[in-house]
Amino acid sequence: MSDSIGRGADPDRIYHGLEGVLAGASAICDVEETNGGLFYRGYRIEDLAERASFEEVAYLLLMGKLPNRKELSAFSEELARSRPLPEAARRFLKTVSPTANPMDFLRTAVSFLGLDDPDRESNAHSENLRKAIRLIAQIPSLLAAFRSAPGEPPPSDPSLSHAANLLYLLTGRRPDPFSAKVMEVSLILYAEHEFNASTFAARVTASSLSDMHSAVTSAIGSLKGPLHGGANEAVMKMLLEIGGIENAERYIGKRLARKERIMGFGHRVLKQGDVRSKIIKKYAEELGERKKDRKWFDLSSRIEEKMRREKELYPNLDFYSASAYYLLGLPIEFDTPLFVCSRISGWSAHVMEQHDHNRLIRPRCFYTGPKDLPYLPIEHRS
Ligand code: ACO
Repeated sequence: MSDSIGRGADPDRIYHGLEGVLAGASAICDVEETNGGLFYRGYRIEDLAERASFEEVAYLLLMGKLPNRKELSAFSEELARSRPLPEAARRFLKTVSPTANPMDFLRTAVSFLGLDDPDRESNAHSENLRKAIRLIAQIPSLLAAFRSAPGEPPPSDPSLSHAANLLYLLTGRRPDPFSAKVMEVSLILYAEHEFNASTFAARVTASSLSDMHSAVTSAIGSLKGPLHGGANEAVMKMLLEIGGIENAERYIGKRLARKERIMGFGHRVLKQGDVRSKIIKKYAEELGERKKDRKWFDLSSRIEEKMRREKELYPNLDFYSASAYYLLGLPIEFDTPLFVCSRISGWSAHVMEQHDHNRLIRPRCFYTGPKDLPYLPIEHRS
């Protein structure tokens, strides 16, 4: 046993990637490993996706209970009222290149929002809640401003729901009810998934008693990678590269033979499939029907079949979300930022939970390098 490892750590059990480790406790979300089931604060995701609004789900995640009519309307009004960007963010926007990566932009812009947030000095529950509401409201406004740069973004429409307004901001058109429903469902499905990489990054940052904006900035950085939130963009790029269903078998076969990963498949926890994927798949198909463009859905289904047959791998949430966003007329490079627009609700609930019951997150690492080397003065080094 190494002298370096003491209290509680077992050098024979190193959990690479923290796989299978219970790294804390949370009352926000339950992921059922064996059947892919998902519950937010005890409510089944199927019920929330079909019957709730994103505003209701965000309230549920932040407050721990479903709102009554009065609470929901006050919360929705506060979100709508908080949409305009503060002056510092507007100034920052003028300095950003329109060719920047939208995730890099968001990571920096959220950090900017923290500079003059009126509650920046406190991590108390009520201040954190106000910060969370502002972030949920303002991230879509940031994206809209970036999308329309250097021109003026369309102003938010206070009569539209969060989901419909988001589509309006990004496409410049008021969405039809079914398109707004697809966006609503997508925001609900992406909202929360316990200790995924970005949420864990947010909690690690918050655990040093750093603030909400720092934690969310860490989370956005983590989400950007293609093994996590970046997968939805990578899926659509792949679908476009394949071009049509007739090329699917050959393309996927070749990539698997080269041991390459197919984006939108597999999951660290959900090895038997993901209930969220089944839900968004249904909406992606109906959207294809309504838009009279089934090409991307049919191609995606063929890839799903092939992946199951060849690798016993199932699509994750990102796979069918990609073609749904495409049919909604959203630019591909905004797919991962749309994930941010939703997951900000889960991240902020986790930051609040971390601050409310804090213990610094500081695991150990099994050292594999050399030890006790003689220190050579620089003139003696080869
Ligand atoms: N395509 C091809 N093979 C895959 C894929 C994939 N997408 N995912 C896993 N595998 C294979 C691995 O190559 C490995 O095979 P091997 O045992 O022959 O080497 C086996 O399945 C196990 O893979 P691991 O890497 O151990 O699985 P892990 O739990 O670490 O990976 C991950 C999970 C990172 C999500 C992985 O499945 C992946 O890279 N998927 C593609 C990226 C993606 O879609 N990310 C989105 C995740 S969901 C979300 O963020 C909402």
